[in-house]
Amino acid sequence: MPEYVQKTTFEECDLLIRNASVIDGTGGPISKADVAVSGDEIVGVGLLSCINAQVEIDATELCLAPGFIDAHTHDDWALLRTPDMRFKVTQGVTTVVVGNCGISAAPFRAQEGLPDPFNVTPEVLSSSFETVTDYRRAINDKAPAINVRLLAGHSALRATVMGPDLARAATGEEINQMAEMLDKALTEGAAGLSSGLDYPAAIAAPMEEVVTLARVLRHHPNTVYTTHVRDEGDGVIEAIKEALATGQRADVPLILSHHKCAGARNFGKSKATLAMIDAARMQGEVALDVYPYTASSSALMERFIGAAKDVLVIWSTPHPECGGRTLNDIAAGWDVSREEACAELKPAGAIYFDMDEQDVQRILRHPAAMIGSDGLPGTEKPHPRLWGTFPRVLGHYARDLKLFSLAKAVQKMTGLTAAKFGLIDRGEISVGKKADLVLFDAEEISDLADFDAPEQPAKGIHYVLVNGQITLSRGRQTRTRAGRFLSSQSQ
Ligand code: ZN
Ligand code: CU
Repeated sequence: MPEYVQKTTFEECDLLIRNASVIDGTGGPISKADVAVSGDEIVGVGLLSCINAQVEIDATELCLAPGFIDAHTHDDWALLRTPDMRFKVTQGVTTVVVGNCGISAAPFRAQEGLPDPFNVTPEVLSSSFETVTDYRRAINDKAPAINVRLLAGHSALRATVMGPDLARAATGEEINQMAEMLDKALTEGAAGLSSGLDYPAAIAAPMEEVVTLARVLRHHPNTVYTTHVRDEGDGVIEAIKEALATGQRADVPLILSHHKCAGARNFGKSKATLAMIDAARMQGEVALDVYPYTASSSALMERFIGAAKDVLVIWSTPHPECGGRTLNDIAAGWDVSREEACAELKPAGAIYFDMDEQDVQRILRHPAAMIGSDGLPGTEKPHPRLWGTFPRVLGHYARDLKLFSLAKAVQKMTGLTAAKFGLIDRGEISVGKKADLVLFDAEEISDLADFDAPEQPAKGIHYVLVNGQITLSRGRQTRTRAGRFLSSQSQ
């Protein structure tokens, strides 16, 4: 561990990180440098030996990177319930994008009887905010440890305007109301629109409905349309085609969420989907996010179990005793089919073992692929991606498997993500950028969370700074909570 020296001399900067191996977030080569921070900004990068600082960190043995940006989360509620956000800070994450897959805490009116994915974690229905301003205020009051970028969810808009019966297309009048709500949300600082067309809450929404809403983004700079496509299994090719066409017709930047090819029949299809994405990138802005595991996690749904060789039930409201058991095992014990067991267990959450390692690696390597955890906080025994995603990419995939260089891995969780989500003053180490920083040991870094013990902080993260404030020091989280709501207007 490096030394952490408090000085009393005259300061020219607040904090000086000395002699770090700087990975600046652009994907360029690693270089030795000192980095100076004053207030919430990086004020110097280079040989700064003559500068005095109130606080110095000797980083001789460590890599210094921009704070990691989690491109895909469902942390909307966790930021308020557990504002220390330990499962993210201990990975080096300093900003989370929330409101993914069509569900966002704002703008949203929670109500009884909403279909999946509103059951994806029990907390989704626990609180909601009719306006982005209300959510931003709640965030500011709670002061979470990390920054927040909010997407407005298509299904949240649908539920608010249409009520719980979502198994139909919205009428023209309802689309107008949703467009108005979305426009207001974006004016109040939302960073885009997300959809989750694979779920009952939105599966009946025709492409036209989504295109009309996505077009609202054109009036708001720095915004993006993200989508959990209509089918990630047998229909993945068609679904990617639809998403790409939606982005093109709306003429807005597109991000494909947690890209995957689920089900043994579809293993290898990532060759085709990535080729389609490459072709579309010649016409418009397209990117994707991915998590570094071959298992997915979501609400327990009949629709998803067919593609999985096994399904681990995490929680079940009517059958809490079944948490931690596999669906095969439960169905055998009850002497019913997997489908019947599934119906009996709902509402429930599950982990699906449904992907191929080669597809995961091919997608991770893609130049437009960002790292997003898609973790689901608020349940016992969550998918380990909630605690392990970022260290796993740096340790397992970059260092051990050499899937890409360390600098490239860092770029996929910093510079690339900041560019795609319009975070213009974050994601890179250079003068004038916000001082979201992480110091880690490249030899030591690894994820410890696994399916048996998923709530394990990672190894090798030594310091985390959020907006210039030391949030993790020598591997331990401090009491400081310096996160902010990052609106699309003012950064
Ligand atoms: Zn999703
Ligand atoms: Cu998601």
